[in-house]
Amino acid sequence: MSDDAATSEWVAVPHEEMNLRAYRAATVAFVVAVAGGLLAAAAYWTSETQTLLGVGLALALGGIGFGLVSWAKYLDLDEHVVQQREPLRPTAAERDELTGQVEMTQQTVGRRKLLVGLLGGSFASLAIGFVGPIGSLGPRPRGERDRTGWVAGRRLVTLDGQPVALSSGVFDQLATVFPDGMIGRDDSQVVLLRLREELLSASTIEQGALDGWVAYSKICTHAGCSVGLFGVDDREPDVVRQLVCPCHQSVFDPTDGARPVGGPAPRSLPQLSLGVDDEGFLVANGDFDRPVGPITWDEG
Ligand code: FES
Repeated sequence: MSDDAATSEWVAVPHEEMNLRAYRAATVAFVVAVAGGLLAAAAYWTSETQTLLGVGLALALGGIGFGLVSWAKYLDLDEHVVQQREPLRPTAAERDELTGQVEMTQQTVGRRKLLVGLLGGSFASLAIGFVGPIGSLGPRPRGERDRTGWVAGRRLVTLDGQPVALSSGVFDQLATVFPDGMIGRDDSQVVLLRLREELLSASTIEQGALDGWVAYSKICTHAGCSVGLFGVDDREPDVVRQLVCPCHQSVFDPTDGARPVGGPAPRSLPQLSLGVDDEGFLVANGDFDRPVGPITWDEG
């Protein structure tokens, strides 16, 4: 190219067709994303929640991702115009060229506005799509554990609904019991043991052990698993009784308020104070002496 040509020509590198394709792809992708978000939101009220929610969120996220990539291409392919040198007096042809450039720029600005609007709509519909799942998280458990099913006078019953007589039971045998009428209630499950009374610490008796019976929350204070194992190690010189959580091997001493003696559990299992009713069956004297479960459940 001669110097004259370089000084008097506008060098344009148009990729209008590819540009338009990327723009259309971005537009369609954002529209799909909006539809996906709305589908996810609507899914919450249908009987196919899981499937539709998954499809909707996939469309929304995929649409946004694909749309952004296409948009990036569109920007990349946007027309580049380089003016090699400002002519002092543009010719009629140059004026026409300039007018064309301005019109194209206006068109591009209009497209960008549409894309920005669609992108905003995509994010908004995605947020709406998450309303259902977030709403399904439910209330925090904080404070709920202070109100289990145990109240004064409520009988302890086994899984098959049988009350436990004060005089029954053999020593060193573990049973899982629930409040009468609430079998299976998670926060109220209790491990019940009868131990020789002389083995119990003074504080354990003070906290509600009765005639050798001790009752503790079955929910591990480490991470909430069920403390379902009881063992007696009768090797000399000391006989050791232990309640064990199988998840991470926390060990609790049932003769001493179920305090942790091994493993990661940070605190004792809450103890249930026991009484006996007119018919000789074990009852609770009230709720546990402290909230059940891991301490993190109470952290706010
Ligand atoms: S949940 Fe019991 S030891 Fe971890």
